Amino acid sequence: MCGIFGYKGPNAKAGQIVLEGLKRLDYRGYDSWGVAVQCLDNIWLRKDIGKISDVDHIADMPDAHTAIAHTRWATTGGVTRANAHPHASTDGSFVLAQNGIVENFSELKQGLLTKGYTFVSETDTEVIVRLIEEELKLNTDFVSAIRHAFSKLTGRNTIIVLTKSGEIYAARNGSPLVVGVNTQTNEVYLSSDTLSFAPYADQMIVVDNGQMVKVDNTNTITMFTLATGEVFEYTLEAMTVKADKIDKEGYDHFMMKEIHETPYVLRQIVAQDAQSLQAFAHALQRAHRVYVIGSGTAGIASYQIAFYLRLYGKLDAVSLIGADVQSYYEIFQPDDIILAPSQSGETADVIEVLEHAKEKGVQIGSIINMPGSIMTRMSDYPFMCNAGPEICVMSTKVFTSQIAWGYLLAKTVQGKYEEGIQNLQTLSVIVQRYLDNQNNHKALKALANYLSKKEHIFLLGKYQNFAIMQEGMVKIIEASYKHAHAIPAGDLKHYAITLMEQGIPVIVAVSDDVVKNDVITAINEVRLRGAYVIAIAHKQEDYYDYYIPTEDAGETDAIGTIIPLQLTAYYLALKLGNNIDKPRNIAKSVTVK
Ligand code: F6R
Repeated sequence: MCGIFGYKGPNAKAGQIVLEGLKRLDYRGYDSWGVAVQCLDNIWLRKDIGKISDVDHIADMPDAHTAIAHTRWATTGGVTRANAHPHASTDGSFVLAQNGIVENFSELKQGLLTKGYTFVSETDTEVIVRLIEEELKLNTDFVSAIRHAFSKLTGRNTIIVLTKSGEIYAARNGSPLVVGVNTQTNEVYLSSDTLSFAPYADQMIVVDNGQMVKVDNTNTITMFTLATGEVFEYTLEAMTVKADKIDKEGYDHFMMKEIHETPYVLRQIVAQDAQSLQAFAHALQRAHRVYVIGSGTAGIASYQIAFYLRLYGKLDAVSLIGADVQSYYEIFQPDDIILAPSQSGETADVIEVLEHAKEKGVQIGSIINMPGSIMTRMSDYPFMCNAGPEICVMSTKVFTSQIAWGYLLAKTVQGKYEEGIQNLQTLSVIVQRYLDNQNNHKALKALANYLSKKEHIFLLGKYQNFAIMQEGMVKIIEASYKHAHAIPAGDLKHYAITLMEQGIPVIVAVSDDVVKNDVITAINEVRLRGAYVIAIAHKQEDYYDYYIPTEDAGETDAIGTIIPLQLTAYYLALKLGNNIDKPRNIAKSVTVK
């Protein structure tokens, strides 16, 4: 959803620094990019379409101490060089990059056109540039001009501005913004996430909504309240994010590396602070109702977490999709609790729900992977996945980490925390064994070759496995761009049975004794119509056409069942020649509605 990066400091290679920073943000958008550097009282600007990760070097980039950069995921205006950010003011005195959507942009643009302003792009961003130009005619200083222009925007937006005299300004209302500081070298970084400057900064400031930052030519940071323009004291926080180099560590793709990190992320869940978990479990027991809310893969994690909270915790827990909660706003009560799993902690659909819920006094818990995120800061009970950076746009290890945490939370509510810990430890060993066994990879590769020739792929699951099959569906869709459809095994006969015909592939999870017979009934129903049944099961049966063996992990079995599905999606993308770590049209952090 667009990444913003800025640098100001003694290093004369500011352009190269922002280029490298931007590459760490390219999971946020990868259709076009732009870099602006300030030198000799002027701004040098270069933009292009394509992925920033493919750019090693930008020709003719001058040495400079100040630069900003942007990687785009197009929302308003197509993917063209003219629409790439940063956008320049008419007189070239400043450039601006944005992360967000200006919802009232047509109306604002109309007003500016009437006043005689012209536009060189189709973006909403250029409207912000022109609004600042308009304000600069009235206000001599940039802080006031940016504040006043920004106050006219509706929607969630964060902007960064570079002036030709070398100051950087940034303002936040919705999309993330963090400032990194290297206190030894007097360098300042501004970015959409902390990971991008983790190797260079030792302190950071998380900029909140309604705040603005100025970095002047002595590299001094000043913070302002957007509404009033008042300067306020900020506190520097120590950087907790590890500064490790983020690389594929020998794997061909981040997706494969991240799937292989599953045993580690499960151990990270086991290592969570038990007291905080107990405190949250008690709060959940006192709550009137627990809503578990997420989007996309995190929405599916929400379904599974709510399932565990009902099954083991006996709680009134329901799951909702972030974009579709409006009808609940009226019925949220102060003694409800919302639990939000999110990789990024900045998904706009979910943040909007949390804002409404907070107004009604609802308490918030979260399980997030990105340190310093807005959702973590909004939470009364913040938990971290500690899964390490997830770079592949498709979420794998974080999904597994969140549902494992949800399972442990439910076991804690049940009063069986120790049993939960033991089961997750066992699961981590089982998953390690699965990943280490090359026969599993061979079998899944063969399956992927078979599926690569099919147009439709169905998945069936019931009880603890339904959400897992849904997540398998999401991974197959994202990786292969094929149509996949997950159906609750018991619901098949109500409609989807009509789609079953000769050679249709149906992947089924058959791993739960409680509902095994129902699942076998569904298998018989689809086989009768000629479907090709691919079973993820603990035992071979003659009514499976293709058998994917997995070890029985008892209560945590469903958590492990996602692994062969994630691997199948990976091998499918590989076979089809798709971009595995950056599937088409999707971004990792969806910070717009
Ligand atoms: C799919 C995927 C997305 C995200 C969704 C929510 O692989 O990663 O569906 O799960 O955009 O993002 P977060 O988890 O950051 O809230």
